[in-house]
Amino acid sequence: MIREILFPWALMTVSALSLPVTIIKFLVAGDLHAFTSWSTFRDAWFAVFWINVGPLAKQTAAPNVIPLLQGRLKDGKVQDKVVSQPLHGTVLEIGRGVGMWTQFYQKTIDEAEKEGTAGPDKIYASEPNRFLAATLKKHVKTANFEEVYHVLPVGVEGLGNTTASGTKIEPESLDCIVTVQGLCCIPEPEKNLPLLYRYLKKGGHWYVFEHVRNDESTILSGIQSFTEIFWKPMICCHLCRDTAKTLRGLGEWEEIDLAPPQGESPYEMIPHIVGTLVK
Ligand SMILES: C[S@@+](CC[C@H](N)C(=O)[O-])C[C@H]1O[C@@H](n2cnc3c(N)ncnc32)[C@H](O)[C@@H]1O
Repeated sequence: MIREILFPWALMTVSALSLPVTIIKFLVAGDLHAFTSWSTFRDAWFAVFWINVGPLAKQTAAPNVIPLLQGRLKDGKVQDKVVSQPLHGTVLEIGRGVGMWTQFYQKTIDEAEKEGTAGPDKIYASEPNRFLAATLKKHVKTANFEEVYHVLPVGVEGLGNTTASGTKIEPESLDCIVTVQGLCCIPEPEKNLPLLYRYLKKGGHWYVFEHVRNDESTILSGIQSFTEIFWKPMICCHLCRDTAKTLRGLGEWEEIDLAPPQGESPYEMIPHIVGTLVK
């Protein structure tokens, strides 16, 4: 229990240490653009933090996220066989960071082509943080993945407007939405999640791996709420969102399978929900 309570504080320490690193990095590079406004500097700071912490977050998430996208997860438990539709068609990812899952997508597309099954054919990645979006774009270019994977340098709130790349997400145009630890960061979920629901086709799949509020006990949720006072300014995300409730309430769903991942401690200060909603 102590370990779980202290874990967010360890991440906040890394964020605090990333602050002088960010200042030095951009000064040494002569890139004064990062200092033009607080929000630009905040993005630069988060990018430095996430480039270091992201690989650890990926390691923790991968045992659930990969089976989730492969359709091998039910009731929070990983299954040996495919039990629901894997990632397919036109996909939108929200808050892609530096694109930790790009290699997995490439592998999935290659395998689907070899086996003649329906894999993803177009992936849009929404990432409004210009420093992360730039790293992500470089990553995609190096991986020779530009034809399939399109980085949209806007947040969820801007996807309905034509972006600089000329792309605009139309209502009912997406086969799949992927949100992996992204909904904790977006502003005004009550306003912006209905936009995402509208972009999904009827029968479309929304794959979710998100950290949410702890509902185990009043004491634990009290500790989590206290931690959030410091967490929000340090990490730029929300610790206590009831994302499952917001998602369920978005509209009609044909199927909802959302549960805590198997084996996660009830004392987690960063507890998750994992699963799929089918519209
Ligand atoms: C905790 S990181 C997760 C990154 C990535 N999903 C991963 O698993 O590595 C959250 C991401 O959401 C992005 N974000 C913040 N505001 C957003 C918005 N309004 N719309 C879309 N993404 C946003 C952040 O820039 C950040 O890259």
